[in-house]
Amino acid sequence: MKNRQILLSSNDIPTAWYNLYGDIPEALLPVLHPGTGEPVTPSDLLPLFPEELIKQEVSTEKWIEIPEAVREKLAIWRPSPLVRATNLEEMLKTPARIYFKNESVSPAGSHKPNTAVAQAYYNAQAGVKRLTTETGAGQWGSSIAFAASLFGLECKVFMVRVSYEQKPYRRSLMRTWGASVVPSPSPDTEFGRAMLAKDHQCTGSLGIAISEAVEAAVSDEDTRYSLGSVLSHVCLHQTVIGLELKKQLAIAEETPDVLVGCAGGGSNFAGFVFPFVTETMAGKGPRLIAVEPAACPSLTRGSYAYDFGDTAGMAPMAPMYTLGHNFVPSGIHAGGLRYHGMGAQISWLRHKGVIDAVAYHQNAVFEAAKMFASAEGIIAAPETAHAIRGAVDEAIRCRETGEEKCIVFNLSGHGHFDLAAYDAYLAGELEDFQLDDGDISGSLKDLPKASVGVPT
Ligand SMILES: Cc1ncc(COP(=O)(O)O)c(C=O)c1O
Repeated sequence: MKNRQILLSSNDIPTAWYNLYGDIPEALLPVLHPGTGEPVTPSDLLPLFPEELIKQEVSTEKWIEIPEAVREKLAIWRPSPLVRATNLEEMLKTPARIYFKNESVSPAGSHKPNTAVAQAYYNAQAGVKRLTTETGAGQWGSSIAFAASLFGLECKVFMVRVSYEQKPYRRSLMRTWGASVVPSPSPDTEFGRAMLAKDHQCTGSLGIAISEAVEAAVSDEDTRYSLGSVLSHVCLHQTVIGLELKKQLAIAEETPDVLVGCAGGGSNFAGFVFPFVTETMAGKGPRLIAVEPAACPSLTRGSYAYDFGDTAGMAPMAPMYTLGHNFVPSGIHAGGLRYHGMGAQISWLRHKGVIDAVAYHQNAVFEAAKMFASAEGIIAAPETAHAIRGAVDEAIRCRETGEEKCIVFNLSGHGHFDLAAYDAYLAGELEDFQLDDGDISGSLKDLPKASVGVPT
């Protein structure tokens, strides 16, 4: 029998992260202070992040060594398997070969612990006692809770109130790993109290939760803040995915034609494709496709401009594809893809035409996820289901053209805590929200004024 899974050993866990800015320094554009609109200095960021992570954010070293203590923790679940989806190929009657990199095998069930472990390590090394963060659906909150427990840090998670009430089991995961979880807005911060004074039943938003987590970090010198996507050091830590994938494809004697990943803030897609980007830029690499929700289409319908990272306009401005920081996405089930912008590196690559992007409505996405579950058994996270849809459509195109392409997608997480979304799909209750151009141009009117323009 042929191996369906291409497995590596602990020794194959990469010893260095791949830094895109090392190969493409011109992609490193300044991040601007939200108040002044002038470039942010490292000292502006010190109340939020430990120095090593700030250095990584702006480093142009091509390889950044992964500390042995981080590799040892990654070895709890890494290297992750690369799996040939032969049942799905048969189901689709495609001549394409489909593979998926299974990031759902981590303890928290997604790619997020790849950076959570690194961030917890650098904070612990810097003598930080406590981490704060925000979480929407709970994937990131549970990942940082897990990582904090590994390095003996306290962790406080501000969880958007509506998810706090709807996703009790993600809460249980975080508490089991020792974190404290509060619904946001909370009475624990000034910003939270102000929001509750305005509306004591406020259901919260990621923007409010970010503001609370940032406030809690800057008002205590032993506490720092932690973010699970968007930033360049987060994307850097995720490159273990693509680096392992390269080795696994070599073992399978495959050269990929297409790499597909979902993109919210861009971190799993970044980690998956960055090690292939220079080949693609040279015209010799795979086509790189980011898949996003039609209800929140930053890459396919947004503008490339400087915008705030958060809704409240308290986070720094970065160059990004954005729908405007005031854009409020409809209530799709892929909570992790409901972000108005995109990480700066992915945005730059899109602007330069290196990566492609497509957008799908959620019924089409869940249809593909159900197909995948029937064929390969795995129930994917709603975010991940976007990548599956993208890969399935490529495979269907191959059926039509007869091309025997090698398609690889990133299975960024499982959906064991998202079964209510599957129930809604199976009951025919999922809405495909239509987004008018007017909605997008309306929120783009509020883009901030920046002292620096994005490059054309
Ligand atoms: C399983 C899963 N995939 C993808 C994403 C999107 O995030 P990113 O674009 O940073 O990978 C999330 C975010 O919560 C997620 O939980």
